[in-house]
Amino acid sequence: LEETLVLVKPDGVARNLTGEILRRIEQKGYGLVDVKLVEADRELLSKHYEEHVGKPFYEPLVEFMESGPIVALRIEGNGVIAGFRSLAGATDPTTAAPGTIRGDLGRDWGLKVQQNLVHGSDSVESAARELALWF
Ligand code: GTP
Ligand code: MG
Repeated sequence: LEETLVLVKPDGVARNLTGEILRRIEQKGYGLVDVKLVEADRELLSKHYEEHVGKPFYEPLVEFMESGPIVALRIEGNGVIAGFRSLAGATDPTTAAPGTIRGDLGRDWGLKVQQNLVHGSDSVESAARELALWF
């Protein structure tokens, strides 16, 4: 059975959308294995986002992720890695399809940070690496 890391980012927690996001995951039939409220520090975030170090959006992204608590979810299910990314929708909430978390609940990107409510691991390798970091 596959596992993935889902993060409800600081905007999702601040807007009280954790329950709504988990409801969508559970309704899809995926299982909640572990859950944790985390105030992420720079060390954790630099490992989590190592693929983005040096990109123009890296610093605002990390500052945003440090700005408040995050809910980390360990989720299991057949095909859950791709399945959750499908539930989440496209990275930019402006163009994410209706019916997806980002499309239904996300707001237009701000000027500096990208507040798109959730993170989901993008491959089996990323999921294993990220789950070890957050749990
Ligand atoms: P995650 O599930 O959060 O990893 O989203 P993703 O896989 O759809 O996006 P990606 O891994 O490419 O980028 C990680 C995060 O960086 C995104 O969720 C956004 O918050 C932010 N991000 C990605 N691309 C851009 C960009 O072009 N500009 C800005 N400002 N932020 C970006
Ligand atoms: Mg990603």
